[in-house]
Amino acid sequence: MKILVTGGSGYIGSHTVHELLNAGHEVVVMDNLANSSEESLRRVAELTGKQAEFHQVDLLDPEGMKKLFRDTRPEAVIHFAGLKAVGESAEKPLWYYQTNVAGTLNLLYAMEEVDCKTIVFSSSATVYGEPEEMPLTEKINMDAQSCYGRTKEHIEDMLRDLGASDASWNIALLRYFNPVGAHESGRIGEDPAGIPNNLVPFIAQVAVGRREHLNVFGNDYPTVDGTGVRDYIHVVDLANGHLKALEYLASHGGLHTWNLGTGNGYSVLEVLHAFEKACGKELPYKIVDRRPGDVAVSYADPSSALADLGWSAERDIDTMVRDHWNWQKNNPNGYEA
Ligand code: WQD
Repeated sequence: MKILVTGGSGYIGSHTVHELLNAGHEVVVMDNLANSSEESLRRVAELTGKQAEFHQVDLLDPEGMKKLFRDTRPEAVIHFAGLKAVGESAEKPLWYYQTNVAGTLNLLYAMEEVDCKTIVFSSSATVYGEPEEMPLTEKINMDAQSCYGRTKEHIEDMLRDLGASDASWNIALLRYFNPVGAHESGRIGEDPAGIPNNLVPFIAQVAVGRREHLNVFGNDYPTVDGTGVRDYIHVVDLANGHLKALEYLASHGGLHTWNLGTGNGYSVLEVLHAFEKACGKELPYKIVDRRPGDVAVSYADPSSALADLGWSAERDIDTMVRDHWNWQKNNPNGYEA
């Protein structure tokens, strides 16, 4: 199939483009390069021996997107592009709604114009908010507690209404838990701009000497060691979940929602110690106050993805941190030359 991947030069996007090319798909990447580098696609080409077609186009350029769709005529879209920093979304809510929600609206109009009606959407477990019951299943009502999370919720609602209005749309809503790790080659990986918001890229920068120590946001949660528990999933497992969702839509159609997680939770300190084992160094940390908006525990019930897609995460936490460290130690400054 010819797949257009928005945000395809980013972290999860580039790993998904790698798996799509290896699976024999033709790939078009659309990215504005605001938070990624075209170098990631050059390295994907090096790894796969195949070239994705790249176009620098912005979600907020409806005419540019319509031209791109008319010129490339993709059969399906995987939609990663968007803003994703929880804290920043609280400071700049209009930018987040414009980029994530209005940008997705522009994308859907461009798709409709060329009758491309299959979309896999990058949603997030953050839409669940702070439910009591664990593990999280897709039946739990959405109740996002951040502007970023609400943009994901609103896009899901938009897609649910679209699917209900026109049965010819094929829609997969994939709710990611915590993506970490990198391709085993160490040639592509996570390269956050500025100070990493997320745990594992921050730990990786401590390990490579770019940060002095890790701040552990609270150790008074009701968990195994008082620190926050999350469901970390290897980015390659996550990427393969997208290919399985595409295959499913090709034969089933309709709208479907799946959690992409491992079903296992690890605390901040458990992840830190796993990373120390992988890099062979003791990593300094300080216990500081809780981060506003954090939940104590979040992990998936991934059983519906297994039942429907035959997909489950294969890589364990030690593989995740080993691969993340392999990427970071070989690319201490990310994709920067
Ligand atoms: C994980 C744990 C922190 C950093 C968010 C978004 C989610 C997705 C992933 C986009 C928590 C602790 C973290 C640090 C720490 N993003 N932590 N020190 O908050 O579960 O999820 O990122 O799609 O949508 O909500 O991930 O990696 O930020 O935090 O102690 O420097 O690590 O308190 O317990 P989170 P995270």
